[in-house]
Amino acid sequence: MKEKLLKIAEEASSAIDAAGADLEALRIKYLGKKGELTAVLRGMGALSAEERPVIGQLANEVRAKIEAKIEAGREAARARELEAKLASEKIDVTVPGHKTPVGVMHPISLVQRQLEEIFLGMGYEIAEGPEVELDYYNFQALNIPEDHPARDTQDTFYITDNILLRSQTSPVQVRTMEQKKPPIKIISPGRVYRSDAVDATHSPLFHQLEGLVVDRGVTMGDLKGTLESFAKTMFGEDTRIRFRPHHFPFTEPSAEVDVSCFACGGKGCRLCKGEGWIEILGSGMVHPNVLKSCGIDPDEYSGFAFGMGVERIVMLKYHIDDMRYLYENDVRFLHQFK
Ligand code: DAH
Repeated sequence: MKEKLLKIAEEASSAIDAAGADLEALRIKYLGKKGELTAVLRGMGALSAEERPVIGQLANEVRAKIEAKIEAGREAARARELEAKLASEKIDVTVPGHKTPVGVMHPISLVQRQLEEIFLGMGYEIAEGPEVELDYYNFQALNIPEDHPARDTQDTFYITDNILLRSQTSPVQVRTMEQKKPPIKIISPGRVYRSDAVDATHSPLFHQLEGLVVDRGVTMGDLKGTLESFAKTMFGEDTRIRFRPHHFPFTEPSAEVDVSCFACGGKGCRLCKGEGWIEILGSGMVHPNVLKSCGIDPDEYSGFAFGMGVERIVMLKYHIDDMRYLYENDVRFLHQFK
């Protein structure tokens, strides 16, 4: 019997070593109710009184040994499992991440922000107005009555006889003066519309930036100083400006303003077409009729205004010779404005 027990111990030991994960089957095979060890113990009744305790002790030792071995095997299997899990879930934090491609700002937005920054720095506030506008604000209140020839140069898209897509940002002047008493100091950037055919310098949709200052004692000197300071910040310290007499119905006197060519410094080149000067905006002293139609007394207050085309400044600044590039959304073009 002793040999039988030792044989079981030995067999069980090597079976457990070889088993790997499936230890439960071996436990049943050796230690279960119908297991091999149990079967041997059942035969103990046939033993002599001296042999019984000796074999009993040996049987217990064998059982304990097999149990311990199975437990150790289970422990090892759990450790292997944990290790495999850790290995499969390992994250290498040093692997470079996935880069999300980031777009760039559109050159029109870029320049509009620059313009806004300059005027915000001079204490202006940004005012907004609707793109779908009343004829009254776009024309009549700006001293452009129904049959005025100035309407021809600003033909736009009509929704009804009275409602149109604004052809300029100037209506924001009127809306602002209706709502606020002087002092007023605003800029108004935004989209405007005209029924122009698309070509290298025209588009039915483009952008303007309007400026308006109204207070007691505002003079043309203030207008000049403001625009000179603006031109130097925008185009460089050496920039000079020049006023040319002009006519706008909503300003009197009116002027078109040129800056000395920032490509050649005024000598004459391709950009300024040999002129040395580049036109950048329209301006003037707010017409008394405009002040009056907004409920502001022209004997007490005066003001200046100016308006510029944003596309024009973009094209000058970046030497773009065809406006259509700005609207085609070709990323090869747009990516150059980083
Ligand atoms: N609104 C004018 C245009 O679209 C530009 C302009 C000229 C605006 C003179 C002004 C101004 O405020 O004073 O041609």
